Amino acid sequence: MIPRRHILAALALGGVAASGAQAQSDTIKIGVIVPMTGQQASTGRQIDAAIKLWMAQSGGKAGGKKVEILIKDDGGVADTSRRLAQELVVNDKVVALAGFGLTPIALATAPIATQSKTPMVVTAAATSIITEASPYILRTSFTLPQVSVGLAEWAAKNKIRKVVTLVADYGPGNDAEKYFAERFLLNGGTVADKLRTPLRAPDFAPVLQKVRDLAPDALFVFLPSGQGAQFMKQFGERGLDKAGIRLLATGDVTDDDQLADMGDVALGVVTSHHYSAAHPSPMNKKFVADFQAMNKFRPNFMAVGAWDGMRLIFKGLDTTKGAGGDALLAAMKGQIFESPRGSILIDAQSRDIVQDVYIRKVERVNGQLYNVEFDVQKAVKDPGKLK
Ligand code: DHB
Repeated sequence: MIPRRHILAALALGGVAASGAQAQSDTIKIGVIVPMTGQQASTGRQIDAAIKLWMAQSGGKAGGKKVEILIKDDGGVADTSRRLAQELVVNDKVVALAGFGLTPIALATAPIATQSKTPMVVTAAATSIITEASPYILRTSFTLPQVSVGLAEWAAKNKIRKVVTLVADYGPGNDAEKYFAERFLLNGGTVADKLRTPLRAPDFAPVLQKVRDLAPDALFVFLPSGQGAQFMKQFGERGLDKAGIRLLATGDVTDDDQLADMGDVALGVVTSHHYSAAHPSPMNKKFVADFQAMNKFRPNFMAVGAWDGMRLIFKGLDTTKGAGGDALLAAMKGQIFESPRGSILIDAQSRDIVQDVYIRKVERVNGQLYNVEFDVQKAVKDPGKLK
């Protein structure tokens, strides 16, 4: 006969073991890799704030389980990002990776997603090719071709004949330059020169001097989030606005994170992008109000990409009841939902985002600078995928 007290002890142990296992499987982890330090720190700060907002609004639950977000700082360095992704997958057993503030980082991490079959949601980086680097990548940000072609058409229709392009010299800059120039030429315009600045620590003075000498009707610019304010200051200091050279840019340059402090030189700048904090939908008004109630700054397109990225993953986990891998990937493909930017689709074939692209102009609204939308192209697919 087994003494009763032994049976009770065994039951108690079993009980502990069972509830321990239960506790583990009741928590799902998502790994977010972003630059919280270094040149791209504003991207990390915006994404971090948006995810905190999402967690507060969603109650931090998906698929009936508690979700834990592990935020890691890669400092904008690709090797660090890849190492962090490996640790998150192997040690923390995350069901998904998200974030990725720069194109080289997303590309360097892609093989980890493929090898481990971990869905990787790119919420920031925006070179067209990224989604082709792994079948496990989905994107909730945008692509540079997507936001550049409409602006080229707008320019050609608005008496702009001769432009110079100026881009950061890496993936998204190459995309912006190529797709803007191609579409502008197709619509009868000419491109007098194509100028580039380095991604790290750019000095805009020499290229702006060149632009002044070339005297185009307009300068088209792409720079990554965080460089716009410095560029705009130098554009004004060199008197390019007074010389009658119009500024056209992707919305990265009049980034809502910095726009409020750019001053009058930004007034009238025409840009195209997928998100403005001034987007007049009821959903966006609530998003901006809730975001600003938690933070002392405005949400920008990085915040919206991350908030939608969380929504994509959480909705996927609701379908899979918390499972990751191929099931989660399948549950995220083809999702359609309303975002603060407008209606979005994650195309099931390309895993890239299809969204409205707005043409906007910087205006003062209630004393503050905003990108005010005045035209829209509906449901734009990444033109980089159409070739
Ligand atoms: C990328 C980074 C940015 O900050 C941005 O505004 C657009 C693109 C990128 O590296 O892909």
